[in-house]
Amino acid sequence: MKDTDALKDRIFDLKAKRNAIILSHNYQRDEVQDVADFVGDSLELSRRAADIDCDVIVFCGVNFMAESASILSPGKTVLLPEIGANCPMADMIRVSSERKVWKSFPGYKEQPAFAYPHDFTLRDIRAQYPGAPVVAYVNTTAEVKAESDICCTSSNVIKVVESLQQEEVICIPDKNLSMWAAKNTGKKIIAWDGFCHVHDRITAADVEKAGMEHPDAVLMAHPECRMEVLKAADYVTSTSGMLRFARSSDAGEFIVGTEVGLMYRLRKENPEKIFHPLRKDMICPNMKKTRLESILTALTKMVNIIKVPEDIRIPAKKSLDRMLEIK
Ligand code: 13P
Ligand code: SF4
Repeated sequence: MKDTDALKDRIFDLKAKRNAIILSHNYQRDEVQDVADFVGDSLELSRRAADIDCDVIVFCGVNFMAESASILSPGKTVLLPEIGANCPMADMIRVSSERKVWKSFPGYKEQPAFAYPHDFTLRDIRAQYPGAPVVAYVNTTAEVKAESDICCTSSNVIKVVESLQQEEVICIPDKNLSMWAAKNTGKKIIAWDGFCHVHDRITAADVEKAGMEHPDAVLMAHPECRMEVLKAADYVTSTSGMLRFARSSDAGEFIVGTEVGLMYRLRKENPEKIFHPLRKDMICPNMKKTRLESILTALTKMVNIIKVPEDIRIPAKKSLDRMLEIK
């Protein structure tokens, strides 16, 4: 028996013993996706975390995703197998300059304050635009969600912004997702200056190069990419939106403008179709931290528990619930 198979068997045994469910984001390593009960995008994973029946959720993703699971399912034990798996974009906005650090569990390192934009905070931008609701991308900390009006993901941002009565809306923290919402809703969007380092470094020149190499391929792009990339794309959507599009499209060849972890499901679910990464180095190091060994350790020792305190959880849940109510 291969080492990997032995590891998987031990995970399955422990999972049954602990009445645990493994959720995995679409960017996780192939072997991690293989042991998961459900693999999906941020919206699908939030919905699962809210209605799943189990005692333990093992969240294979990054920390804001495990926080969302804790916010939505406070009665369950949420484990983040790699405690250092964070999303740098989520750390680009903080509530206030004297932000409370409640993450005191072993191994957690407070991320250095991002200078984005400089020492400006969520409370500052709210004060500057009184009356404008705050739409927080789920890629934010629990504290930021708690001080926002509604959350969104890459798959529902347009619907979320359109659901608001106000014509002026603050969108945090991803400037590219915010510009995408502005383009598609006609609302005045006040965008925070954050970005995803994996998607934001892709340029129109990369698109041109990929198009020359694969002239018959359809380009799918994630809305965390720059507008110059989104304008050139044939289809802009979330990771699971790409899976649906690839499945239903008549096209047989695609260029994939997102993190390369998605290639595994795309190829597995569409063996007759061809997929090329827009750039081979679209790799999120934080999403790749989780390994089978990390899952096994977390489940064996029941460590790396993510528990959002009630004073943050309750207002943060309001923002997530408001989003989840939108069909
Ligand atoms: P999705 O919700 O599209 O899966 O995206 C999450 C993410 O972190 C993208 O970088
Ligand atoms: Fe964050 Fe980008 Fe990684 Fe997604 S791909 S988790 S937005 S750094």
